[in-house]
Amino acid sequence: MTLPRIDRIAYGGDYNPEQWPEEVWDADHEAFERARIDTLTVGVFLWSVSQPAEDVYDFTVLQRILDRAHDEGRQVCLATGTGALPPWMARAHPDVCRTDFEGRVHVYGQRHNACPSSPAYRRLATAMAEEVARRFADHPAVVAWHVNNEYGGACYCELCAAEFRRWLRERYTTLDRLNDAWNATFWSHRFTDWEEVVPPNALSEHWRGPDHTAFQGITLDYLRFTSENLLRTYREEKDAIRAHSDLPVTTNFMGFYRPIDYHRWAEHLDFASWDNYPPDDRSASRMAMTHGLLRGLKDGQPFWLMEQTPTTTACRDVNPVKRPGIMRLWSWQAVAHGADAVLFFQMRHSRGASEKYHGAVLNHAGRTDTRSFREVAALGAELESLGRRTLGARTPARVALLVDWDSWWAVEISDGPNRHLKYLPALVDHHRSLWEAGAQVDVVPVTADLTRYDVVVAPLLHMIKGDLVGRLEAVAERGGTVVTGVLSGRVDEDDNAFLTDVPGPLARLLGVRVDETDAQAPDVVNPVTFAGADGGSGADRSAVVAEGRLVFDLVQPEGAEVVGTYGADFYAGTPAVTRNPFGAGEAWYLGTRLDQAGLGHVLRRVLDRHGLVGPYADAVGLEHAVREVEGRRYDFLLHHGDEPVEVVAHADGRDLLTGRVVARGETLRFAPTDVVVLEGPAS
Ligand code: GLA
Ligand code: ZN
Repeated sequence: MTLPRIDRIAYGGDYNPEQWPEEVWDADHEAFERARIDTLTVGVFLWSVSQPAEDVYDFTVLQRILDRAHDEGRQVCLATGTGALPPWMARAHPDVCRTDFEGRVHVYGQRHNACPSSPAYRRLATAMAEEVARRFADHPAVVAWHVNNEYGGACYCELCAAEFRRWLRERYTTLDRLNDAWNATFWSHRFTDWEEVVPPNALSEHWRGPDHTAFQGITLDYLRFTSENLLRTYREEKDAIRAHSDLPVTTNFMGFYRPIDYHRWAEHLDFASWDNYPPDDRSASRMAMTHGLLRGLKDGQPFWLMEQTPTTTACRDVNPVKRPGIMRLWSWQAVAHGADAVLFFQMRHSRGASEKYHGAVLNHAGRTDTRSFREVAALGAELESLGRRTLGARTPARVALLVDWDSWWAVEISDGPNRHLKYLPALVDHHRSLWEAGAQVDVVPVTADLTRYDVVVAPLLHMIKGDLVGRLEAVAERGGTVVTGVLSGRVDEDDNAFLTDVPGPLARLLGVRVDETDAQAPDVVNPVTFAGADGGSGADRSAVVAEGRLVFDLVQPEGAEVVGTYGADFYAGTPAVTRNPFGAGEAWYLGTRLDQAGLGHVLRRVLDRHGLVGPYADAVGLEHAVREVEGRRYDFLLHHGDEPVEVVAHADGRDLLTGRVVARGETLRFAPTDVVVLEGPAS
């Protein structure tokens, strides 16, 4: 079982009618009807209602919500409800509460904060999942299971310490191997008994916070352990569901969320889903990348957009409303990148507590004559009109962006070379240049099959594991292009340096050697000049000058040709960017953190070599995303820019949203927030 069985793009969202009187439910469903809403996520925070005491289950409310949804013809994504603890549980079993990084033992409050090692929590959460599944597995409204909610955080209690030691024993078997992995002789840390190991927190290895550690090895392992320890609780709930139901199971992810290695979780989800709350309204390419990550979790399989706000969030200091057209634009963007569901948080405003001002499909008054409801209803009609067409469609990408949680963690917990060098911004910038060039990009784990890609871009590929080097070399060998750069190829799986030249096992592919890496404050720029056709004499205007920042490798070519050089400091005139011919292809090394212009220059050249620059690359703000299914192709054109643009249609097709027939060569005009979905035959 993979994706839920649905017959149109699922539309709706989190529905918590247990929070308001049942008379209001009539109005809710009337409004849903108007907005063509067919899917409700139910029961996410229902634990204290469904289990008011340890020995009492009471599913009356949930039963009524489900029955009503079914009577109204709506399907339900049913939550196990374990994302927030009921108060009695913390009182009866204090160990369900976490101990934080500072070592403070917490008491009852908030949500998403159960200790994943607590036997009481594990037993009670699994039992709740089991009860819900047993009672509602055959309910005709249920199409999918939603386990818990937005897993995250970490615990440092005694129970977690014991679990950590057990996990380490399994991983290393002997203390010698552990001491070796952690390079424990440094600062006299050789462990002689497993019981000597304590969680690395503010009371132990850390100073200044979670990213500042004296021992990267133990901190990295605690990050891995925490992700896996939470995964165990998810799996326990999933297994409890599976005992009663074959329907697909998911849990809602949070995009690029550092504490949890979603790649390691992915195989345990039947389908992936995520909650999209971008930091601002300038994040179109970042959202595209995150949709790509979700698609990449299940090898290109469509995912569900489980949550987005129809209007505003509440948790930020400042919470602007989405401008007219933006909710629609971003919803179509999700579909363009592989979503088979467009769901909101939430269907009606909460009456009180921290989310009473969080946007919703219906406001406190339940009005349907508001701007935001009208936009929700209009989108509902559009999505419904597509029927099954795009369901299951996949993205025909020839470009891969590699993501690796281990590298993310290792780079950011490293002392040196530069604390300002962060993993996610590097990914965002590399992706943005690919996106601006109109390339179709898959965002995949380092374990992914790379044989289907012409271009593989791997920023900050810090840690080298398994057979990755061979697979990257094979990409170049057969004519493809690999792009990587600073701080790549530095450490092994234990985060220990390779006892070789930098970039370690990547040296053969990249044809360079790095003896020193300079680091500078964020405001220091070293200009990088990419020579024009005349080889850098400066006379050729096609020369490009970009900016390098933060880290500066002193690169010695060992077979690679120099493409860009530094302009300042004692290494002025030496290589900053190189390209190494390898087999029928090539491998680029970017020796500094290039600005957007520099990345744009390099990645355009790379895409160009493979004919992968998109047909609308020069229309500023116009995104082009492609999906294909059963011989049909969907070209999604989404205008994120502030200014109108005009482009020449690259193919024949029919706009599914207006019915307009478009001929290749015809001029298409886009105002800001415009969306076109062209349907045509797959190539
Ligand atoms: C998350 C949660 C929801 C809600 C929203 C508010 O995504 O899953 O329960 O709190 O944030 O933005
Ligand atoms: Zn704990």
